[in-house]
Amino acid sequence: MNHTVLPEEIIITDSKNLADNLSLSIYDRVFVLMDENSERYCLPVLDNAGALPASRIDICISEGEANKTLASCEKIWEAMMVNHGSRNSCLVALGGGVICDLGGLAASLFKRGIDFFLIPTTLLAQVDASVGGKTAVNFHHYKNQIGCFSAPKEVIINPDFLATLPKRHMIAGYAEMLKHGILSDQQHFETLITLQEISADKIAPFIWPSLQIKAATVQEDPFEEHLRKALNFGHTIGHGLESWSNSTKENALLHGEAVALGMIAELVIAEELFENSTLVREQLENRFEGIIRCSLREEDFDGILQFIAHDKKNTAEKVKMALPANENIAINVEVGQDMIIKALKHLVGFLSK
Ligand SMILES: NC(=O)c1ccc[n+]([C@@H]2O[C@H](COP(=O)([O-])OP(=O)(O)OC[C@H]3O[C@@H](n4cnc5c(N)ncnc54)[C@H](O)[C@@H]3O)[C@@H](O)[C@H]2O)c1
Ligand SMILES: [Zn+2]
Repeated sequence: MNHTVLPEEIIITDSKNLADNLSLSIYDRVFVLMDENSERYCLPVLDNAGALPASRIDICISEGEANKTLASCEKIWEAMMVNHGSRNSCLVALGGGVICDLGGLAASLFKRGIDFFLIPTTLLAQVDASVGGKTAVNFHHYKNQIGCFSAPKEVIINPDFLATLPKRHMIAGYAEMLKHGILSDQQHFETLITLQEISADKIAPFIWPSLQIKAATVQEDPFEEHLRKALNFGHTIGHGLESWSNSTKENALLHGEAVALGMIAELVIAEELFENSTLVREQLENRFEGIIRCSLREEDFDGILQFIAHDKKNTAEKVKMALPANENIAINVEVGQDMIIKALKHLVGFLSK
């Protein structure tokens, strides 16, 4: 068994030098997985740089979380079968977290596993989803239920791709960067929370430090037995909100937006349990007020609680969270429903400001 889930290399580069960092000549077939946006905005950049072989086979999946499914995996496998993919083929996933998660899983299962490369094109995927070896698809509206740990050969980060990323998606990735700061680097958090503007230019210098925080945590605890659980901060309530909004709303919350709200809610709980200062939560609230929108009412709580209970980190009754506890992170903190409801009520107030 591969005991690392980190790629052999994580490379940060720019549009001009993409070809130098992608060695695909050893493969009999190169499959490139994209969605319509990464095909439109990012594939031409790779082509201009001469980073992909002319014989490569493109596979395009419709964009969005709703397509992170086994049905999309089947579509990928069909394209690979029809085009004579073999154990010596590879898959390049060019896109956001959806394409990275989906491509990683499809490649890991095809012919019992072929090499795959991740070229993340959203901020969230660059600082988070592409590093850590977790692949997955959603199942019956529940997040990431079917997946495996599997390391890509390489992860190639090109911050230039962010120039075309819609603002909402910049904010979603920024939320995960803030999480990294809260968990292990107060200076990273302070720098990010005080940025004047959440734009590609202003954020670019902090991509590498942010993904290093994730990579270091993963290296220490690849299979999420202890330390890596800290990265779930904001994600217990966050996943509940994300799954609920995806199953009920047209304008669903993005993963990173749900995590931002999840961090605020979980900090309310942490303040109660550990008597933390309220400062970080207030800084998050000031930053995200009016930026993250979601109509949340008390009638929605039952649905959200059901999704939280089904999250893969929880057993039937016990909801476990990773929570900042003063200078540390407490993991596996068992939190009762009454506290979660209190935190959700706080969010209702925050979102109606
Ligand atoms: N594996 C992990 O460790 C991990 C960690 C965090 C998140 N995730 C997963 O990542 C997913 C969210 O990722 P995401 O936020 O990147 O979503 P996404 O992949 O849906 O991308 C967001 C949107 O941006 C578009 N897009 C991508 N690159 C673009 C570009 N350069 N210019 C313009 N548009 C572009 C996409 O088509 C999509 O519409 C979730 O499914 C989440 O569960 C996984
Ligand atoms: Zn996340």
